[in-house]
Amino acid sequence: MCWIFWYSWSKDAISILVHWLERLEYRWYDSAWIYVNNWKDKTFRARSVWKVSELATKLQSMKDRTYIKGIAHTRWATHGWVTEENTHPHQSNNGKRSIVHNWIIENYSKLKKELIWNWFTFSSETDTEVIVNLLEKHFNWDMLETAQSVQKIIRWAYAVLIVNSEFPDEMIWIRLWSPLIYASSKQWEHFFSSDAQALAWYADNMVYLEDWDVIHIVNDEYNIYANWEVTKRNIEDFDQEALEASKWDYKHFMLKEIYEQPNTIKRTMKWRVNFDAMSLHSETFHGMGNEDYNKIVTVACGTMNHVGWLGTYRLQNLAKISAYSEIWSEYENKPFFINPQSLHIFLSQSGETADTLETLKMVKEQWGKTLGIVNVVWSSIARETDDWMYVRAGTEIGVASTKAFVTPSVLMLLLSLFLWKRRWMRLSKYQQIMRELQHLPSYIETVLDQSDHIRSIAMDLLWYKDFFFLWRWYQYPIAAENSLKFKEITYLHSEAYAAGELKHWSLALIDENFPTIFNLPHDEMYEQNLSNLQEIKARKWKICVIWDRRVEDADWQITIPETIDEIYPFLTAVAGQLLAYHVADLLWNDIDKPRNLAKSVTVK
Ligand code: AGP
Repeated sequence: MCWIFWYSWSKDAISILVHWLERLEYRWYDSAWIYVNNWKDKTFRARSVWKVSELATKLQSMKDRTYIKGIAHTRWATHGWVTEENTHPHQSNNGKRSIVHNWIIENYSKLKKELIWNWFTFSSETDTEVIVNLLEKHFNWDMLETAQSVQKIIRWAYAVLIVNSEFPDEMIWIRLWSPLIYASSKQWEHFFSSDAQALAWYADNMVYLEDWDVIHIVNDEYNIYANWEVTKRNIEDFDQEALEASKWDYKHFMLKEIYEQPNTIKRTMKWRVNFDAMSLHSETFHGMGNEDYNKIVTVACGTMNHVGWLGTYRLQNLAKISAYSEIWSEYENKPFFINPQSLHIFLSQSGETADTLETLKMVKEQWGKTLGIVNVVWSSIARETDDWMYVRAGTEIGVASTKAFVTPSVLMLLLSLFLWKRRWMRLSKYQQIMRELQHLPSYIETVLDQSDHIRSIAMDLLWYKDFFFLWRWYQYPIAAENSLKFKEITYLHSEAYAAGELKHWSLALIDENFPTIFNLPHDEMYEQNLSNLQEIKARKWKICVIWDRRVEDADWQITIPETIDEIYPFLTAVAGQLLAYHVADLLWNDIDKPRNLAKSVTVK
């Protein structure tokens, strides 16, 4: 994770860039660099390793404040340790092209070998230096064409700023997945930033750039290219308060993140699914298709364990692969039974959970194949696993995971479909799932539209202290997750157990003061679930059902769209998130920072 800022044109660039660096002081970084240029092409460059504040102090003490353009960059080491040699910018061998880069180039190793074969040398261990030498190798005196040639070669997830000493008034930005916005002020200042919040109170309007956008600046006039055709992007007013608050108009980050789910699901599917062709882009499954797995184990903590759990149902029922989910603390004390066709999938939102990392290292010590499914790009788990897939749910601030539960769960379904396609899949079922996946964002919006109704149910539930979450089959991980979310932010007791267990013990526990929340969609288990519903109603106990068609009376009910078994879990999960949120909000709990919990448990 890095941040790039570029500024010109009328104020003291050093003060502005230093302020941006100070605003990011709390973020992840391990080195920073600043480059400024005044109108006489006098330049100054300073960098610091580890302490951004030292760089800021050094720059603040500078007497010469005539610099009016500049770039500030904070680096989070991914390729190459924290050393001055690895700090940006990086220059090409002939020193004429420089580059600042955000995020990663996944195929840099192969490209670096090819460049070395072509007599290029490298002074750093970074992937960034590969890009700038490719620019030199493909340079044809047209910066835009050169950038286009290189973009076709490197593999994604980056924001790149290219400058060329032979064209001092030109600059090229390329954006792919790494956030980047262009902004300007009424004082004719221009900004590029990978962090919109840092521009609060500087810019007056902004342009959110899209994936694959290329921005070509000549003398502060810019053109935006999409697929290398000049295009226009909407210019939006820069709403300082909203961005500064960054919760937008939501009361809590958790609620904002619940409502982001239709978009995060679209984003995680965007580069992996072609709905028109009903196909999956194999290159985004990172070589998963090259192996014939006979055993898959998911390993995670907390909510992410429920993602793995749900994923194993799809791997078993669709791809017909022996799959099971493990909580790290139990798994690390078991024999792993690793074989050449087994795969361990490590799931983590932060990618920094020490418990999950620990088990990952143990599996690697036994030569087990590993795949990371993480949300934070280039986090430790992504870097430690043999291969990785990014969830692309965006930053999740609320401690209680919501979008980082449903979004990776969709990714696990796509992975199951991808592996199933290689193993005699049933085409009609595959196409049915693909069609329903295409509707999933709108289905979730339908559930979100019931938020006020769910809040009215939450108000009734305030009278109770104990809750039972019931489920069957695909709904098992969802009821367990809904119970976890409920406990995590309401601090009330709840537990999830199989509906089939009712007569074996649960009926002794439930009574009129122990409401049941029953996931009862019209799936393969529906008829059996209805009999359990009767058992509860016969005793006049309280029940809230989450279902897609009303056939019985229930004390409370949340209606979800009718769909298929593989899709219902995402909808009952969102309903459960809203129910937990509203109960916790009515209890005035600190929803975004629940007591005794942290967003990322980076210690064992
Ligand atoms: C979920 O709401 C909790 N915040 C917690 O269970 C979390 O899922 C767990 O700590 C794992 O964190 P990770 O996804 O960052 O690895």
